[in-house]
Amino acid sequence: MVFSRRPVHMTESFPMARRKKIYEGKAKILYEGPEPGTMVQYFKDDATANNAEKRDVIDGKGVLNNRLSEFFMVGLNAIGVPTHFLKRLNMREQLVRQCDIIPLEVIVRNFAAGTMAKRLGIEEGTPLPRPIVEYCYKDDKLGDPLVTEEHIAAFGWASQQDMDDILSLALRVNDFMSGLMYGVGIKLVDFKIEVGRVYDGDFQRLIVADEISPDSCRLWDMETGRKLDKDVFRRDLGDLADAYTEVARRLGVMPANATPMEKPKLIN
Ligand code: TYD
Repeated sequence: MVFSRRPVHMTESFPMARRKKIYEGKAKILYEGPEPGTMVQYFKDDATANNAEKRDVIDGKGVLNNRLSEFFMVGLNAIGVPTHFLKRLNMREQLVRQCDIIPLEVIVRNFAAGTMAKRLGIEEGTPLPRPIVEYCYKDDKLGDPLVTEEHIAAFGWASQQDMDDILSLALRVNDFMSGLMYGVGIKLVDFKIEVGRVYDGDFQRLIVADEISPDSCRLWDMETGRKLDKDVFRRDLGDLADAYTEVARRLGVMPANATPMEKPKLIN
């Protein structure tokens, strides 16, 4: 075979060519994992907004999101919130558990922003009386429309037990993420998670899947209000990689002396 004649160092440089692609999304690619029940999640540098109407390639974004998502998911696993994360493999890839994704974007909001602020005519940044959980049906062609639990039950996207578990997962992730961000002077305005179903023998349970990163959160500096999330890209507010690097730096995920202009570096 032609492959086997390649020098070893070359085949090692292009491991992805041998992997089967399962799915390619806007910011990530999923490949078949090395063992049954696993997948490799590859983080791209592509950024999209407004349902992919606006797109660009942001150097280093994939590396930052891989590392940040690892950081959040490892923390969640450690406090007993189950996630799909198993292990980071390299700068852009992580090994995750394969699961059946529930077709919902689960949004938790602590302050009004984005579509909710617009929909209800509330000024962005207004604190909400309590965290509000919303569900959007995952369908890019429809623009991920907001749905109610009535739709979810009627169309069978999730059972009542699933919805109870999803709500509990979402609120636990919110408490964890809000506390973590508060510790580094960042306000967690809102975020989105996806939830997947895994089977352990006869039992099934729900776990946090996909990614948790500044792509899927709104993060505002507590003192200045500076946006440190994907709104920097959506609203043309500056350099997205600088903003994500700042989040990583504050959380200690990047070397403390990394300046925003430096390329992302891993500390281990
Ligand atoms: P939202 O304000 O509803 O939408 P938009 O980001 O278009 O203004 O989003 C609330 C939060 O959820 C925000 O932090 C972005 C995140 N989110 C995603 O990451 N992906 C999605 O598909 C949706 C609907 C939201």
